[in-house]
Amino acid sequence: MQRWTIGSREVHPIGIGTWGMGGDRFDGGDVYADYRDDDRQIDAIRYAIGLGQNHIDTAQLYGAGHTEEIVGRAIAGVDRSRIFVATKVWRSHSLRHAVPKAAEESLRKLGIDAIDLLYVHAPWDAIPMEEYIAGLNDAVDAGLAHAIGVSNFTTDQLAEAIRLSRHPIVANQVHYNVLHHGVVDDAMRVLCATHDVTIVAYRPVERRLLADQATAPQILDAAAHVGCTPAQLAIAWLIGQDRVVTIPKASHPEHLDENLDAMRVRIPEEVTRTLDRLGA
Ligand SMILES: NC(=O)c1ccc[n+]([C@@H]2O[C@H](COP(=O)([O-])OP(=O)(O)OC[C@H]3O[C@@H](n4cnc5c(N)ncnc54)[C@H](OP(=O)(O)O)[C@@H]3O)[C@@H](O)[C@H]2O)c1
Repeated sequence: MQRWTIGSREVHPIGIGTWGMGGDRFDGGDVYADYRDDDRQIDAIRYAIGLGQNHIDTAQLYGAGHTEEIVGRAIAGVDRSRIFVATKVWRSHSLRHAVPKAAEESLRKLGIDAIDLLYVHAPWDAIPMEEYIAGLNDAVDAGLAHAIGVSNFTTDQLAEAIRLSRHPIVANQVHYNVLHHGVVDDAMRVLCATHDVTIVAYRPVERRLLADQATAPQILDAAAHVGCTPAQLAIAWLIGQDRVVTIPKASHPEHLDENLDAMRVRIPEEVTRTLDRLGA
């Protein structure tokens, strides 16, 4: 039986994404908070935890800070050892001294004592990497986070982050799915294997495209062949890989049920090979 870990913690390979819960992005680009649908989002997170999913992914940015509050309300009263809470520091707080401040604010919203995995949300062009990597390390030293990770890093950027960091970089969260391989190539896999870095695949169903009957015909054919839905195929393809876990976001219980059932899907090798060739 395959085990999925992030650093020293075992996690469910299908986590709980939260982008869009408690806010979204205006067309112009700014992120906003939206309090109108909180109860439904909280119910969705609790439902997923009830199904055994324990890896909750959120960020300082999401819902302009409100998403962390939603997660905090959803996990209130849940046995802390049962869940793994990850959040991300945004660019606004990526100077060294600001990272622990952001972590403190996230902890207040989440209602927990320490973040299980604190990421920097992206490799910012305008800020030297030394700043936020040192800030993440300081957050661990201060007991605000148990482990640290990076997000949206290329192989070269990940190698540099590993070099700069005193504590292990345990995860690189990246846009990765069967149609979009992005930065995940052989070089990334080798680096991650060498340094025990888990790839946390975000947007596993490509914001619904992969769950849609209008998705690529090869996905539909493969799903029909395997006997599962396209979303299940996409998730099973990810978590069947070494050192890969994923964090689909779903606020509808039927989507959560469907995605979790991907655990049962076994993709035959020849289909995996076909799927491996689809992505760009
Ligand atoms: N680090 C980063 O820069 C970054 C960037 C993007 C995302 N993320 C993280 O990754 C998570 C996942 O990515 P994402 O939210 O962009 O995209 P995603 O998980 O690929 O797609 C989410 C969308 O797909 C729908 N969906 C999920 N399962 C479905 C199913 N079985 N059938 C039909 N529709 C389904 C959801 O609908 P309902 O909600 O209506 O159920 C939602 O609209 C985010 O929530 C966030 O935590 C991180």
